[in-house]
Amino acid sequence: MERKEMTTKSEMHKKFLVVAAVFVMVIALVSLVACQQPAPSTPSAPAEDTTPAGKDSEPATPTMAKNANGVWTAEAWKDIYPNQYQTWKDNEANSTEGSTDPYFAAREDMVELYPQIKTIWNPSPFNTYYNEPNGHPYSLEDVRATQRIFDAATQAYKPTAFANCYTCKSADYTALLIKDGNATENIPFGDIKDKINEAISCYNCHSNNLETDATSDSLQVTSPFFTAGSFADVGSQTCGQCHNEYYFRPADRSVQNPYTNQADMTPEAMYEFYKTAGAEGKPFNDYSNPLTGVGQLKTQHPEFEFVFGGSKSSMAKRTNPNTGETFGCADCHMGETQVSADGVNYTSHLLISPLDNPALLESTCEIAGCHTDLAAQVEAWQKESEDRVHAIGDKIEDLTKKLADAVAANSLDETKLAEVRELNRQAVWYWDFVMVENSEGSHNPDLSNDTLDLSEDAVDKALAYFVG
Ligand code: HEC
Ligand code: HEC
Ligand code: HEC
Repeated sequence: MERKEMTTKSEMHKKFLVVAAVFVMVIALVSLVACQQPAPSTPSAPAEDTTPAGKDSEPATPTMAKNANGVWTAEAWKDIYPNQYQTWKDNEANSTEGSTDPYFAAREDMVELYPQIKTIWNPSPFNTYYNEPNGHPYSLEDVRATQRIFDAATQAYKPTAFANCYTCKSADYTALLIKDGNATENIPFGDIKDKINEAISCYNCHSNNLETDATSDSLQVTSPFFTAGSFADVGSQTCGQCHNEYYFRPADRSVQNPYTNQADMTPEAMYEFYKTAGAEGKPFNDYSNPLTGVGQLKTQHPEFEFVFGGSKSSMAKRTNPNTGETFGCADCHMGETQVSADGVNYTSHLLISPLDNPALLESTCEIAGCHTDLAAQVEAWQKESEDRVHAIGDKIEDLTKKLADAVAANSLDETKLAEVRELNRQAVWYWDFVMVENSEGSHNPDLSNDTLDLSEDAVDKALAYFVG
């Protein structure tokens, strides 16, 4: 993602580092080993309590009634938790056009950035309509406007679009799903509109629990389908319930994860899973390319799997010195506890990049010499990942065209055709898995590279069929 404003910050940051270089180097020498080691399996003693000395909020019952779906909307908490409410609302700055706000750049059209997807993902509508995301307040507006499901010509939703598209967009939808179950997922998308008014809000991550609990113990995964587990903290699970890889199960259109445990939360294991996840135990396909006959998979935003899947990212194994617990999504994207003007402790609910949070960089990322220049490090990881995504994408585009020609000319025998199609399916899946992950490789550079290796290996093998 473009982050032009970061240049200045990283520059300032470098100046600070020059001044502090001597100290940093000394600290780094002393503690380098600590930074490289995964957290011990027994919980280490929390570091000195660095919680700012404020008072905690008092839970209370909202004066506003629950809405028709049984949800206390964000408005209901406005006066009880004004700091969380205000910072949650501040995500409005993360909008389509970008803004003058220092945190968010304008979002990009992915089809322009990666023109290969026109060919590679044909005929999935993602090959035409795919933008970088906005912040949470726009989830409803965006899902209703995307031409992946809205037909601009007829001004109606496509008959293929069902209410299950609301799964990660709305507190109201989650409440309806909990109440009415799978039937909800089968309602035509356009027919449920009147019941869905609240975008992603308090209810998605806290249920209605804030009435009796003003702490993070109120956190609750509300989405019923999500394969969560004790290997991640509850806060991370609340993010993971939406920021994950899922598919629509053909039998009932229900949203499901392609795994039931952490060990199978890897790109390879998911690939195996999809081989028999289709109707009657056939391979599951998100779509089939009419020119090549390849049944393809479409990866969604696997942030949770990148951080916590398989052997986990290195950060998910390290201990945050300020909390004594391993790092989770909130540590990096919500930052440290704040104290309001009237002396109340709270966590900012404005979801930002850790690179845009100088206080966090100083208090957590850079201490003990762990990341001396995180901005540069992240930029390097992202560049490596994006360069490879472009280069391998070119090869997959080439393969798709060659295979389409071969199919049209009937020039491959049945066995070879099946082999090339299988390699094409693999190449796309492993490539897509990195391509659509929103941190551009920086959540887990090793996994990003290993997964791209699998893609490149498959596409190289397939292209070899067309040499000579
Ligand atoms: C996307 C998930 C998400 C949403 C939406 C959300 N929260 Fe939270 N909330 C969290 C997480 C995660 C924490 C814990 C942060 C930590 O401990 O580091 C938290 C903590 C809290 C706490 C405990 C005290 C604190 O600030 O740490 C309160 C109170 C709270 N949220 C209120 C709200 C209210 C009110 C809303 C809606 C206006 C809301 N939250 C929306 C995820 C969410
Ligand atoms: C109920 C589903 C849901 C939950 C829970 C959720 N997200 Fe999201 N998140 C989304 C969706 C959907 C979008 C894209 C919205 C759009 O483009 O309109 C998004 C967008 C974002 C973005 C903006 C990305 C960008 O490129 O600007 C960030 C950052 C983010 N989420 C982080 C988190 C974190 C951290 C948590 C947990 C504290 C979390 N989300 C919990 C669904 C969710
Ligand atoms: C160790 C810190 C760390 C953890 C833990 C972490 N992230 Fe991130 N995340 C990052 C960094 C660094 C980026 C890249 C930010 C940038 O490009 O400015 C990022 C980017 C993102 C983005 C894209 C946002 C944007 O504006 O580009 C989303 C969405 C996201 N993370 C969600 C999550 C979720 C969900 C989790 C938990 C499953 C998580 N992150 C855990 C550090 C972290």
